[in-house]
Amino acid sequence: MNKTSRDGFTSTFGVLLATLGSAVGLGNIWKFPSLTGMNGGAGFLLVYLLATLLIGLPVMIVETMLGRAARANAITTFERVAPRGQWWWQIIGWMGFLAALFIMSFYSEVAGWVYAYVFKAAAGAISTTDPKAAGATFGALVSNPVTSLVWQWVVLGLTGSIIMLGVAKGIEAVARKLMPLLFILLLVLCVRSLTLPGGAVPGLTFLFSPDLAKITPAVILTALGLAFFKLSIGMGCMLTYGSYFRDDQNIPATATRVMLADLSVSLLAGIAIFPAVFAFGFEPAAGPSLVFMTIPAVFTSMPGGTVFMTIFFVLTAVASVGAILSLLEVPVAILSERFGCGRKRASLYTILAIALVGAPAALSQSLTAETKIFGMNPFDLYDFLSSNVMLPLGGILICLFAGWVYGLPQLQKQLGNDGKLPNGVLVRAVFFLVRYVSPLLIGIVLLHGLKVF
Ligand code: PFF
Repeated sequence: MNKTSRDGFTSTFGVLLATLGSAVGLGNIWKFPSLTGMNGGAGFLLVYLLATLLIGLPVMIVETMLGRAARANAITTFERVAPRGQWWWQIIGWMGFLAALFIMSFYSEVAGWVYAYVFKAAAGAISTTDPKAAGATFGALVSNPVTSLVWQWVVLGLTGSIIMLGVAKGIEAVARKLMPLLFILLLVLCVRSLTLPGGAVPGLTFLFSPDLAKITPAVILTALGLAFFKLSIGMGCMLTYGSYFRDDQNIPATATRVMLADLSVSLLAGIAIFPAVFAFGFEPAAGPSLVFMTIPAVFTSMPGGTVFMTIFFVLTAVASVGAILSLLEVPVAILSERFGCGRKRASLYTILAIALVGAPAALSQSLTAETKIFGMNPFDLYDFLSSNVMLPLGGILICLFAGWVYGLPQLQKQLGNDGKLPNGVLVRAVFFLVRYVSPLLIGIVLLHGLKVF
């Protein structure tokens, strides 16, 4: 397929918004707070910040660059940019294909909970500040196998239809509109949470005053996995989006802006949640249910709470759509470009595969609750395998490829847009990071975190 016949983003600003739409999602509002809560708070946040800056950002830059250089899906890209005969780099794309299915398997389920909470919020059914009542409502939702599956299918059906419309029309249109509103609503939530009696001090201490003793190898691996998951990197997603970037897009600047905006949304979600956790007596380490219990409690304690709560869950649902579209784009681009099966059919196959692979994850609090593999239920297993194993592995490979095979002159040419942008110190810094620092750090964290040592 040649350059001109591929779909693509139509404006520089649209690129920024779509990339942001991929990064910002349930990762900020659901995963970041629950992992921070389960892993001891500030220490985890500190490692996550370091991982994002030292590893996440450089990987994001080179991954996007490789996609734009090849203008192809995650597998074909390595056919085009790798030297003749080095077919094994395509493993990055295949692993990304699999990782996208695994992530979608649990992500679509959590998105389903958010959709369900839109209706519950509107009906006033979750307006409580009592941890017991909030826990019971959430428990009733996730332990019902029928509603769990149906909500997952609703999410898959909706996002599948959007992706069938094509890249520019589907993704840009959705990403463009509603993000700023979510940001404002999070700010409002922060103010309310911080002014709850007895919340601000323990909440902010938990979030920002690190206890270094709590930083174990497993905590570091989880933080690294979150950094990859947050920026949608290590699995060909940014690569696929990069392939739709315009030639004049400044990749390092776009990646940096997206990273900063993404971090601020996560931090806002943290500040909205943890003071309330302490004010109302929720358990910080509650896990995946944390957000679904605390956010309604904060809204319940402010005027007009029901209305704002409903809007909040609608916006979160919308944020999840941008991320899901980018996740689906990885397999859809591979299937349609490599197997010539047409975008519509590729989308349909992808959705069906996720419904199949994802069902055990959707049923993890009911029918498959006792099905344990490596001590994890299917939901946790998909999450662990993708975020903590496949994305970091993909990240190492992308770094090794960019740093040792692709090389500095090519990096300077691509990141400098063929001499139109400065390509001095910053590009050298990226090169140094992806050639030495990031692969080494990821390798050590992976081996330690997986208890290989
Ligand atoms: N970055 C998204 C989030 O934080 O919600 C999740 C995600 C999207 C992960 C796309 C991976 C990906 F390829």
